Amino acid sequence: MNQPAVTTPATQDFKVADLSLADWGRREIRIAETEMPALMTIREQYRESRPLAGARITGCIHMTIQTAVLIETLIDLGASVRWSSCNIFSTQDHAAAAIAAAGIPVFAWKGETEEEFWWCIEQTVAGPDGWAPNLVLDDGGDLTLLLHEKRPELLDAIHGISEETTTGVHRLQEMLRGGSLRVPAINVNDAVTKSKNDNKYGCRHSLNDAIKRATDHLLAGKQALVVGYGDVGKGSAASLRQEGMIVKVAEIDPLCAMQACMDGYEVVSPYVDGENLGLDSIDRGLLARIDLVVTCTGNIGACDAAMLQTLKPGAVVCNIGHFDSEIDTGYMRRHWHWEEVKPQVHKVYRDSKPDEFDPASRDYLILLSEGRLVNLGNATGHPSRVMDGSFANQVLAQMHLYQGRFAELPAEEKTAALTVSVLPRHLDEEVARYMVEGFGGVITRMTEAQVDYTGVPADGPYKPDDYRY
Ligand code: NAD
Ligand code: ADE
Repeated sequence: MNQPAVTTPATQDFKVADLSLADWGRREIRIAETEMPALMTIREQYRESRPLAGARITGCIHMTIQTAVLIETLIDLGASVRWSSCNIFSTQDHAAAAIAAAGIPVFAWKGETEEEFWWCIEQTVAGPDGWAPNLVLDDGGDLTLLLHEKRPELLDAIHGISEETTTGVHRLQEMLRGGSLRVPAINVNDAVTKSKNDNKYGCRHSLNDAIKRATDHLLAGKQALVVGYGDVGKGSAASLRQEGMIVKVAEIDPLCAMQACMDGYEVVSPYVDGENLGLDSIDRGLLARIDLVVTCTGNIGACDAAMLQTLKPGAVVCNIGHFDSEIDTGYMRRHWHWEEVKPQVHKVYRDSKPDEFDPASRDYLILLSEGRLVNLGNATGHPSRVMDGSFANQVLAQMHLYQGRFAELPAEEKTAALTVSVLPRHLDEEVARYMVEGFGGVITRMTEAQVDYTGVPADGPYKPDDYRY
């Protein structure tokens, strides 16, 4: 029999699409908990000692079912939290409803406007009875930016930031270099159990899912162009290959391009001889055969106006990188007519100016999630098993920052403590161990003779810090 959601909220310190979705959300959260063994082991291990007692966390990560398990883990360990989503299309409304129904302040719904997006984040940096954050949990850096630019006075009480994704880490490193970062940060992304897991295997799972939910297209036998072959690109290319697509890869970095060759993909450039000199330099023969483009670079202009003009009619265009800077949707809005097929799916007619179009025209592109990250806009993102690693790291990072009490350090100690760093390797190994146990895997322990021979401790760390997984 279905169980009801745990509580009814006493006050309305939240904003979600539809609270009546809470029971559905709660049922899915309970399943997700069984698929997140590392996070649940950490819950069990630290529940009694409550290492986050007194922590007040402002969080900004896609408000999904998996994030609900993260939020409730932080609370179990003693924290109070306020939450928003880091993307206007990524909230799962039943997850947000379940969190609101449990009395947790959450401000998120699928299909926010840009203005609503920033309003939601603002609701999480202050709360009733003078609630103000002392920790930040971010994905992409928008919450961090808001605190630094609009509410800098709040930074005095903040012990640190844990950042989820590649793009957010790049922004933090830029702030650190430029001297504007005010509090230390943990780079969660570069834990092995995050980027070599979530970015790669998460996208392998969720990219083809998103494209199929959006278009109902058969993918087999068609040609795909994956732009960027970092961790997300590797997972994305695998995702399309396992659908039977003929996958080509574009890269700027010879090392990643080499990896693509070795993985059996054809490395191509949208531009003749790889030189982007505008429309005249487009490899028209190549782009005229491409049925699907996915950008995975974290860069701007990965699918630029010249590419959009020359792609095969009917091609699907989408982005799985953090921001909507990768596809030149600005050009598409200024020059072409957009017809909404359904939420997060548009036919963009290249032979029609905005507001004038012929529905019989075949000269269109199918744009997913308006160029925002497709796996969370058109599907439900990575599965719980994958997010288990990412979010176990988030919890350990929050504990680490809270223990460091940066905000209470004497001024002369703060400069040295202002870093963007990864968690120690032994914690990464601990998360991995819980994940392997969750799969029922058995890890081999070295004999004493093997320890002596290799010089590697039996209990780790097993690799030097600069080892590349
Ligand atoms: P990465 O740095 O490992 O890979 C990006 C790759 O793109 C690099 O190899 C780089 O050389 C290449 N590149 C840059 N500009 C290019 C261009 N113009 N043409 C071709 N290649 C180019 O980063 P990543 O971890 O793979 O992350 C990529 C993006 O995805 C980031 O924005 C990250 O925040 C985001 N991300 C999204 C999800 C998701 O679920 N959608 C998950 C993790 C990360
Ligand atoms: N990023 C990618 N997939 C996600 C998910 N399911 N929940 C939260 N963040 C994500």
